[in-house]
Amino acid sequence: MGYRVAVVGATGNVGREMLNILEEVKFPVEKLHAIASRKSIGVEVSFGEQIIKCEDLEQFDFSTVDLVLMSAGGTISRAWSERIGAAGPIVIDNSSTWRMDPDVPLVVPEVNPDDVEWADRKNIIANPNCSTAQLVVALKPLHERARIKRVVVATYQSVSGAGKEGMDELFDQTKNVFVLGATPPKKFPKQIAFNVIPFIGSFRDDGYTDEEAKMWNEVHKMIDPEIKLTVTCVRVPVMVGHSEAVNIEFHEPIDEDEARDLLRDSPGLIVIDKRDDKGYITPKEAQGEFPVFVSRIRKDPTVENGLSLWVVADNLRKGAALNAIQIAQLLHERGLLRQKALA
Ligand SMILES: NC(=O)c1ccc[n+]([C@@H]2O[C@H](COP(=O)([O-])OP(=O)(O)OC[C@H]3O[C@@H](n4cnc5c(N)ncnc54)[C@H](OP(=O)(O)O)[C@@H]3O)[C@@H](O)[C@H]2O)c1
Repeated sequence: MGYRVAVVGATGNVGREMLNILEEVKFPVEKLHAIASRKSIGVEVSFGEQIIKCEDLEQFDFSTVDLVLMSAGGTISRAWSERIGAAGPIVIDNSSTWRMDPDVPLVVPEVNPDDVEWADRKNIIANPNCSTAQLVVALKPLHERARIKRVVVATYQSVSGAGKEGMDELFDQTKNVFVLGATPPKKFPKQIAFNVIPFIGSFRDDGYTDEEAKMWNEVHKMIDPEIKLTVTCVRVPVMVGHSEAVNIEFHEPIDEDEARDLLRDSPGLIVIDKRDDKGYITPKEAQGEFPVFVSRIRKDPTVENGLSLWVVADNLRKGAALNAIQIAQLLHERGLLRQKALA
């Protein structure tokens, strides 16, 4: 017995990973619908052994499914998620649209699983920003042990975080730069090949970007509003995998060995931390993997109780598709996913 599931945005970076992961974790799917825009009607996507033809969002009857994995951007989510939730299925949304809505739980299963219990207010659950998802998995156990006072983060975010157009732009510019000269930027504001861009999203009045503000807002909603967090988000010429240099100041003492053991025993984390020239993780090695990886755990001697870490995850997996499917698994385990009688 399985669920009827619709993946909206099935032709995109995140949507395709959703299809892969549903199959990899053997989520109980009775019937899968791949949904995209009108231009993709009939486009084929793979779901395990099956080839599925995409259907048009505008024509689809969402009252016939139990679960909608929504990954088609903020505009589509704003227009559709509430309506779909009202028609019956639970929507797990990847955009930023609903994350700070007080009637929508924002969930990372390793961090705040119990929040799925009040998803029935709108039948929507929000997935966090990709950079937040991996950060909170590492911060939560440390906060429970030694109460975090302040966090300073610099992100190194891959181009796949900007969708398939972002990946195409890095690929084309890199290929062309020595032949025709780099192709002019379109998706990113400046050349991304052989470069880094200290700007993601749009500027706010205070000089931070909305991408940066998402990180502290989401950490406050999921872990603790008392945590002070400041961040610089940077786009780097990496295809998949976000990295973060994280500096943490605690209220209570915690040494690096204890932190390493604690993180090793915490859900969703793998610690790779040897002090030799290959004893740390890079985004290339995290690509295609489920966990969040932590390396370079060390004392920060400039404050009373401080640690620095390096945190890496596959942004299309833990940062998006995997987290959404882990939420679906949680709903399934708790009996919170309705199963409609098959028509
Ligand atoms: N990439 C990440 O690391 C990441 C992480 C967290 C959250 N997210 C969020 O996940 C969402 C998708 O990201 P992505 O990276 O997968 O983007 P993407 O590769 O650009 O894919 C966008 C998807 O949305 C569909 N779509 C666009 N306009 C549509 C419309 N009018 N009606 C129906 N479907 C439409 C596209 O279908 P067509 O092919 O038919 O246009 C495509 O399937 C965004 O909200 C993004 O912010 C992404």
